[in-house]
Order: sequence, then C-alpha cells, then structure tokens
Amino acid sequence: MIKQAISEYANKAETALYKLMPETDIPQKTVCEAMKYSIEAGGKRLRPVIMLMCAKILDLSEKDVMPFACALEMIHTYSLIHDDLPAMDNDDLRRGKPTNHKVFGEAMAILAGDSLLNFAAEIVSGASYTVPADRVLNALSELYKASGIYGMIGGQVLDIESEGKDVSIDELRRIHLLKTGALIRAAGRIPCVLSGLDKDKTDAVTAFCDNLGVAFQICDDLLDVYGDSKELGKNTGSDIANNKSTYVSIFGREESLVLMNKHTEMAIESISVFGDKANELTELARYLTNRKN
Ligand code: IPE
Ligand code: IPE
Ligand code: MG
Ligand code: MG
Ligand code: MG
Repeated sequence: MIKQAISEYANKAETALYKLMPETDIPQKTVCEAMKYSIEAGGKRLRPVIMLMCAKILDLSEKDVMPFACALEMIHTYSLIHDDLPAMDNDDLRRGKPTNHKVFGEAMAILAGDSLLNFAAEIVSGASYTVPADRVLNALSELYKASGIYGMIGGQVLDIESEGKDVSIDELRRIHLLKTGALIRAAGRIPCVLSGLDKDKTDAVTAFCDNLGVAFQICDDLLDVYGDSKELGKNTGSDIANNKSTYVSIFGREESLVLMNKHTEMAIESISVFGDKANELTELARYLTNRKN
C-alpha cells in the first residue's frame, strides 16, 4: 500500500522534474547533459515525496508545492554529484550508474552541480503560485538556509573534517542533522510555510523530519557496510575507505539498528498531533527502516 503511494508521489515529481530539464541544443550543452545525466539516473525522490505528503495533509495544492519539490531534488542531486568527487568521498557509482565526474570529468561535474543549484533558484523564483508572495519568499528562505552553511553544506564540512578523528555522539548527530537532515527538514517545512501553518504544528513537522533525517542517515551508514551494492546503486565500503565516523563505526550494527528505530518512533510520535491525516508519513517512516537502497 504505502509502497504504491510512495511511487505515485515519486513519479509525479519525476515527471515535473523531467519537464523542467534544459534543452541540450545550445553550445554549452555539455553541462546540460551532465545535469540531466544525474537527475535522470533516478533515485528514490524521497524529499519530493515527503513534500507532497505534507502538502496533502495541509490541503496545499500540488501546483504550489511542485516547483519547490523539483528545486529540492535538484539541490539534493547536486549535493550527491559533489559528494562523489575525488576531493570528497571519491565514489564511482551512483544511482546505479558511473558517477558524474567519471562520465563528464571533474570540471564538468563541479559545474553540473553548480548549475543544478542555480537552476533550482531559477525554477522556484520563476514559477507562478496561488499562495501569497510573502509565503513563497519565506519558503525560498527555508530552502536556501537548509542547503547552505547552516544546513547541508555545513554538515558536509563537519563530515569531511571528522574524517580520521574520534567524534562524540553529539557531534555525529549534529553532522547527520545537517548534511542529511537539513534537506529533509526543508521538505517538511516548506509546505508548512506555504500553507501558513501555525507554529506548534510546524514544530511538530520539523521534529518529525529531524528524527526521520537522523534515522535515514543511520540506515545509510548501515547500508554502506551491510548493503548490497547492486541494490543500493552505489558502492559499499566508502565510509571505511574514507575513515568516516558513522553510527556503525561508533555503535556497531545492533545498536545502530536500535537507534534507527528509536529515531523513527520519535519521528512518528512527533506528528501524532495530525491524527489519521499523518498515516502516510507514519508508514513512510517505518517503510524506510527496511529499505535496501
Ligand atoms: C543519499 O540520499 C545521500 C544521503 C543524504 C544519505 P538518498 O538515499 O536519498 O539518495 P537517492 O536520491 O535515492 O539517490
Ligand atoms: C552525503 O552523505 C550527504 C550529502 C549531503 C550528499 P554520504 O556521503 O553518506 O552519502 P552517500 O552514502 O555517498 O550517498
Ligand atoms: Mg559524504
Ligand atoms: Mg558519499
Ligand atoms: Mg553514505
């Protein structure tokens, strides 16, 4: 049931995303091809799925949320292209295909990432909305704060600086909350902002996303050691090769599983204020604990 709902939301977002991709008949087409390559390689589209599920709970139209869902997926995809570069995690498989820099070279992969980040801004600022403009501006602010130094980029900085070091549990949680949690948080908060939701309920959605983000990255850490590369679409063993501190390296497999489930239940508890309306998000959170990719 939930699997089908997830794939319906993911397909909707993917269709919108593909329509936005640039033409490749311009002289600077190489970068357009590199952008499209990583976007069209697939991925779970988790962040757009969360956004669309939240929009539904809040009676927000898909038309109003879709530009943001596409922008968020573009920013996430750019973060993956850069994360895979030799200067960062140095990985050569992503979404079941050779990484962007393996196909287009490092210079073009850097530019394709930069282009996706810019393109995201172009899309959200150029779309038309039925909600008031001040809400759209606030949603833009959420999106870019989550992507930058206070969010994903900040987390990537701390992640890189923690390589080869012993980090405390609090530091590790902070890295997870930023590098992965921030974009997931934006996926939940942007619909709240667009619909003008009150503070208490927005806080509930935020707490859901923060806990889901940590659980999601714990699972990512587990899959990096115990997952199957074919199913994952990316190579396993990257964290060990890069001397990363992860939940698995600090807590081991069993305790990491316990913590992943704990954060999932905390996420679910946070959105209980929405009653039955939160069923899809609840089921999504549980479904993700058993993911294989
Ligand atoms: C991978 O994200 C990187 C993390 C933030 C853990 P996803 O697991 O959502 O990757 P795709 O989008 O499905 O490829
Ligand atoms: C990356 O975390 C989070 C990003 C912001 C891209 P990882 O480095 O663990 O993600 P994977 O395992 O390469 O997908
Ligand atoms: Mg990384
Ligand atoms: Mg990586
Ligand atoms: Mg990983």
